[in-house]
Amino acid sequence: MKKRTLLSVTFVAAAVLSLASLGAAAQDNKFKIGLIIPLTGPQSTTGIQIEAAARLYMAQHGDTVAGKKIELIVRDDAATPDVTKRIAQELVVKDKINVMAGFGVTPAALAAAPIATQSKTPLVVMAAATSSITQASPYIIRTSFTIPQAAVSMADWAPKNGIKKVVTLVSDYGPGFDAEKFFKDRLAFNGGEVVESMRVPLRNPDFAPFLQKVRETKPDALFVFVPSGAGAAVMKQFLERGLDKAGIKLIGTGDLTDDDQLNGMGDGALGVVTAHHYSAYHQSPTNKKFVTAFEKANKGMRPNFMAMGGYDGMRVIYEALRASKGQGGGDALLDAMKGQIFESPRGPMFIDAQTRDVVHNMYLRKVERKDGQLHNVEFDVIKDMKDPGKTK
Ligand code: DHB
Repeated sequence: MKKRTLLSVTFVAAAVLSLASLGAAAQDNKFKIGLIIPLTGPQSTTGIQIEAAARLYMAQHGDTVAGKKIELIVRDDAATPDVTKRIAQELVVKDKINVMAGFGVTPAALAAAPIATQSKTPLVVMAAATSSITQASPYIIRTSFTIPQAAVSMADWAPKNGIKKVVTLVSDYGPGFDAEKFFKDRLAFNGGEVVESMRVPLRNPDFAPFLQKVRETKPDALFVFVPSGAGAAVMKQFLERGLDKAGIKLIGTGDLTDDDQLNGMGDGALGVVTAHHYSAYHQSPTNKKFVTAFEKANKGMRPNFMAMGGYDGMRVIYEALRASKGQGGGDALLDAMKGQIFESPRGPMFIDAQTRDVVHNMYLRKVERKDGQLHNVEFDVIKDMKDPGKTK
């Protein structure tokens, strides 16, 4: 009698044990991507574009890689760094994510960086663009772009095209400071001059008083950086105040003529020249296929550069998982992200293994009407540009 009880206890214990290991196996067979993006608030279009692109990538490439089932966990941080940090912690501790991705603004990426380092979780920046972000953690990889890449490209083009005296207007935070500094230094190097630098608040900016001042200063051009989603307001007020009629050109990083808003900006946007890494109008078969599929999956929404960062970010994650065969945890995954080289819808793309930052083409583009729609039409290219903000 006693013996039987003992036997059955052993049996039950063994059953519980094997159930537990079954549970662990099920967990091991999942690969979780925590996508932290702004889906509400002024930066919401960034999150909407990134999520749409990530879902398109998964629809096109399947949800199983190296025998693991990919699970996309989407969280809205409203581009608020305190919230980003809390979500990143929860995703790492409770959900046991394998990689975190997204990050609509620089302060959000910086808030999550220490969590990536402590937990050895790769962090893929799909949107934020301040140069220094990749230095905030050795676990950060970037698939968006860097502001110095765009600002320097613009400052090389401007003086060759009659623009010598410039006023800069930037959003008052990280990427704005990069835009202001890198544009100014490069323009001076090229024999031009920034005669005035103005900063506008990130939240609820009123551009009117700044634009009034630009009118009085009468520069050859106004150079602008505002984050994705704010460009249309700048354009509208620039035109309303008649700055274009006063002979002042409008130039900027491509965030200004964001593909998400460009079509609604009207003919006043025609002729505006910007520098950026992605235009939905980029003339390559890979991009045409991407734009068609994206628009089809999203009720005609045109992909912008945020979608591009999200799509390529998913590519980098998928291929790193494939290369590391789902073994070796965060470090193996990170190693397999470094040095990836591929044909993106934006053009050729490379993740520099040393800096973990993106190396890609910068295009000079002019707003033109094509097939009845406003587009950023590329007319020149600086090939394989590294981030000018990195010293090594
Ligand atoms: C950042 C945000 C943007 O929306 C953008 O277009 C560029 C940079 C940022 O916060 O880093």
